Amino acid sequence: MKILVTGGAGFIGSHIADAYLSEGHQVVIIDNLITGQEKNINPLAKFYKLDIRERELRKILVDESPDVVSHQAAQVDIRRSVQDPCYDADVNITGGLNLFEGSIEAKVKHIIFASTGGAIYGEQNSFPASELHSLNPLSPYGISKLSIEKYLAYYKEVYNLTYTILRYGNVYGPRQNPKGEAGVIAIFCEQMLRGKTPIINGDGKQTRDYIYVKDVVESNLLALKNYQESASNQIFNVGTSIETDVITIFKSLQKLLKSSFPQTHGVAKAGEQRRSVLDISKTKEKLSWQPKVDLLAGLKETLDFYLNQQTLVSES
Ligand SMILES: NC(=O)c1ccc[n+]([C@@H]2O[C@H](COP(=O)([O-])OP(=O)(O)OC[C@H]3O[C@@H](n4cnc5c(N)ncnc54)[C@H](O)[C@@H]3O)[C@@H](O)[C@H]2O)c1
Repeated sequence: MKILVTGGAGFIGSHIADAYLSEGHQVVIIDNLITGQEKNINPLAKFYKLDIRERELRKILVDESPDVVSHQAAQVDIRRSVQDPCYDADVNITGGLNLFEGSIEAKVKHIIFASTGGAIYGEQNSFPASELHSLNPLSPYGISKLSIEKYLAYYKEVYNLTYTILRYGNVYGPRQNPKGEAGVIAIFCEQMLRGKTPIINGDGKQTRDYIYVKDVVESNLLALKNYQESASNQIFNVGTSIETDVITIFKSLQKLLKSSFPQTHGVAKAGEQRRSVLDISKTKEKLSWQPKVDLLAGLKETLDFYLNQQTLVSES
């Protein structure tokens, strides 16, 4: 099959592109490299450096005529979405619509969409949250992801463009950008490897459902394999169902690094969600998927990746 992956130079999208290529598919990548990096792009993929909001995207879709579109590109920074909700909506909603309009013109069969299990439910009233939990996103980012989910249902209804929505937990692993507002694991790994004490926001008891990127990739492979059957027009949580707090992340990294840093707390981030954990029963049952990498193994592989990066930088 031919698959067009938006955001294929980014953290998660590049791993998905690699996996589709190694399964023998053809891959076309669209990315404007705003947070993605050229070094992440698999040389076997065809790459267009383009913003998903550009009209030219529709022509590329028609020319390339992919079977399936995997939509991973996004404005992913929750705090930026709060500071500039117009930009967030422009990229995440208008960009998404441009992609779907082009997909209709190009007669694409199916869209796989990277949604969020962390931000879409808001403060949960049951734990873990299943796909049927009420949707009360607390940020413009969560709202833009929810909007696209609704638009996908619209495109299915009106144009019979089918979809699979994957609501990821907090994804971590190699290639996650540790700069700025990236995930706490990427930031802590990078700082601790440099011998710097990381700052834990607030009391550190805020929880997330941390999922290793390889397991997320596996869910994307299964969504593609089953897109005409069990994954057709479905929403799936992609997490571990394990709730982990920031202090546990900090202590686990210390253990793996065999080093000791003082446990240092900073001010809590205003408006930060307190708890998040996903029920993955439906994904297990319908996609025959289950997370395979436990937190310590995933953290070890992630640390090895950043260690290698630092060695490469200091050697060059
Ligand atoms: N990382 C997580 O924990 C997490 C959790 C839930 C959902 N997601 C979703 O997964 C997807 C991938 O996220 P990621 O963590 O790999 O982030 P990332 O920033 O590494 O990847 C996003 C990619 O999209 C590209 N991009 C951004 N705006 C673009 C635009 N206007 N036009 C073209 N390309 C553009 C970036 O250059 C980047 O390569 C996103 O849709 C994100 O919302 C991520």
